[in-house]
Amino acid sequence: MNCQKTKLLHDNLSVKDGVLYFADYNTSELAKKYGTPLMLLEEKRIRERMRTYKNAMETYFGVGSKPLFASKALSFVGIYQIAKEEGINTDIVSVGELYTAMKAGFPLENAFFHGNAKSDSDIKFAVENGIGYFIVDTYDELYAIDKIAGELGIVQKILLRLTPGIDTHTHAAIATGKVDSKFGTSIETGQAYEIVKEAISLPNISLRGFHAHIGSQIFDIKPFCDSADIMIRFVGEVKESLGFDTEILNLGGGFGVRYVESDPEIDYVENIRLISDHINSYCDENSLPKPTILMEPGRSIVADSGMTLYTALSVKEITGYKNYVAIDGGMTDNPRYALYGSSYTVLASNRMDEEASYECTIAGRNCESGDLIQENVKIPRVERGDNIAVLVTGAYNYSMASNYNRVPRPAVVLLGDTDRVVIKRETPEDVSRLDIIL
Ligand code: LLP
Repeated sequence: MNCQKTKLLHDNLSVKDGVLYFADYNTSELAKKYGTPLMLLEEKRIRERMRTYKNAMETYFGVGSKPLFASKALSFVGIYQIAKEEGINTDIVSVGELYTAMKAGFPLENAFFHGNAKSDSDIKFAVENGIGYFIVDTYDELYAIDKIAGELGIVQKILLRLTPGIDTHTHAAIATGKVDSKFGTSIETGQAYEIVKEAISLPNISLRGFHAHIGSQIFDIKPFCDSADIMIRFVGEVKESLGFDTEILNLGGGFGVRYVESDPEIDYVENIRLISDHINSYCDENSLPKPTILMEPGRSIVADSGMTLYTALSVKEITGYKNYVAIDGGMTDNPRYALYGSSYTVLASNRMDEEASYECTIAGRNCESGDLIQENVKIPRVERGDNIAVLVTGAYNYSMASNYNRVPRPAVVLLGDTDRVVIKRETPEDVSRLDIIL
């Protein structure tokens, strides 16, 4: 029988009495208790992943090396509290993420401010609140930080974002390491070397090292190793020609995550070991002091710790064409299929013992034909009121959610020893709260 049980991608999923369990919680009961759409997060797995990175990086790169959680993948107060408790750093990319981290009491000296377009007010807000590092993209930003830091009477620590010139096999929209990229300064063109000289010369800037991020959802290890080679060679070059000692080398995020059965399982520890071989051997062979290595995982920390539960609202069968199952969420809580055609595993979570032979497209509730969660999946024949589970939605779902059609965003429930709401469900009042009545 073509049963849905074969699609239990990760070991936090199981089935009892025909119902899907996630992190040992009965998903039908959670749907009833909190309503749908509902995003679930497993606390234990998030913490385990942070620890996996932290321990592996310490082991292979040396003490002081550690992960930053790339909080663009999932930003809410509780996740920064967890990151703080696990002793890892974070990257933030806007004053919104920065403020959320502040609300969590996250120590901002361990926060790195990313982004290719920071305004003066972004920079000022961050400097005034004690941001640890800016990761600087361009000359314009460099001069703006130098000026604002000077006015505030501090010397600001920065890393420079460089593009190693790596073309990865991932969706073009999430590949970032090529020379022709809106992010960073190119090593290949010689411009990286020039911006280093400039950064060193500025009075209110303290250049501490370099950063590269080649893209996201990458399964192959080779581009990471190639990027590490190029970056550590650059570290060697600036040491030799400018006498510059690189304290920090940040190798970015990007490890892939298993969304569907055909995706490979990634051994993150082994990946870290392989990358460390490249860094360590170059440093040893060239008597180069080893920089502290940082990495910025986002997706691989939170993606498979999350799933989304919906309720089926209608089943429409177009004779001779196809079947649509419409749900009570859609691109407003998960825009990734609409944006990138991303693959997801879909289950009828209260019919887990039934045969998955009904081919259908899962359609969202928003007024847009492209508002689909997944096309042509096989699940059991569902009816209005059944639950639909979409797996591996912890990363870049809630953080990319919108209020299109003024649809309130779902609640997020953290599953640990107890189940607790960590982001409240939005209400119609919430989505209209900033409007001024004429
Ligand atoms: N560091 C930098 C500078 C980044 O730009 C990113 C992701 C990361 C780290 C984390 O990468 P991760 O480990 O999560 O792959 N919205 C897209 C993904 C965009 C990724 C943006 N940058 C998606 O839904 O697939």
